[in-house]
Amino acid sequence: MSITKTNRLIISKVTLKDAPFFLELMNTPHWIKYIGDRNVKTVKEAETYLKNGILKSYKERGYGFYKVALKSNPNAAIGICGLIKRDEFDIPDIGFAFLPQFEGEGYGYESSVTILEQARNEFDVIKVGAITLELNVNSIKLLEKLGFSFEKTIKPFDDDQELLFFAKDLV
Ligand SMILES: CC(C)(COP(=O)(O)OP(=O)(O)OC[C@H]1O[C@@H](n2cnc3c(N)ncnc32)[C@H](O)[C@@H]1OP(=O)(O)O)[C@@H](O)C(=O)NCCC(=O)NCCS
Repeated sequence: MSITKTNRLIISKVTLKDAPFFLELMNTPHWIKYIGDRNVKTVKEAETYLKNGILKSYKERGYGFYKVALKSNPNAAIGICGLIKRDEFDIPDIGFAFLPQFEGEGYGYESSVTILEQARNEFDVIKVGAITLELNVNSIKLLEKLGFSFEKTIKPFDDDQELLFFAKDLV
C-alpha cells in the first residue's frame, strides 16, 4: 500500500514480505558502521525484527518506517525512511537508510520531506528528533538540510555510545 508519492519515489508500508530487503539493507557496510549490527543474518530473523519493530509501531502509533522505491522500478525497495517513537525520548525521531548504490542521489531528502509533512498533518507531531553518530557526515548534512538543529550529545542506550541529538519544530 502506497502512503505517498514524491517526484521520483513511492513510499509504502513495510510488510513481512520485505524481510529479504531488510536482511540486505541491515548488512550493508554503512548500516553496520553508522547504525549498528542488529544481528539480523537470516530472512527469519529479519521477519522477527519487523514484527517486533516496524509492524508493531504501525499498530501502536499509526506511523513507523516505510520502504522507499523508485517510481521507475516500483517493486524494488531502495531504502527506508520514517519515524520511530523510542521509550528513551519524549518525541519521535526520524530515521533513514538507503542501499549503497542509491546514496548520494537526494532520495534521503526527498523522502524525509514527505515523512515530516505526514508527521505534522496526519499524526499531529509538533517536534521531531534525530540521533546520529558524529562521524556520520552524510546523515548530519541531510538533517541540517531538512532544518534540524543540533541540541545535545547523549548516551541513551545500553551500549554507552555517544550520539548527537538533533531536533526540528514542525509548527
Ligand atoms: C544518510 C543517508 C540516508 C543520506 O541519504 P542521501 O539520499 O544520500 O542524502 P541526501 O538526500 O542528502 O542526498 C545526498 C546528495 O545527493 C545529491 N544529489 C544527487 N542527485 C540529486 C538529485 N537529483 N536531487 C537532489 N539531490 C541530489 C545531493 O546534492 C546531496 O548532496 P549535497 O548534500 O552535498 O548537496 C545515506 O547516506 C545512508 O543511507 N547512509 C547509511 C545509513 C545511515 O547512516 N543512516 C542514518 C543513520 S543516523
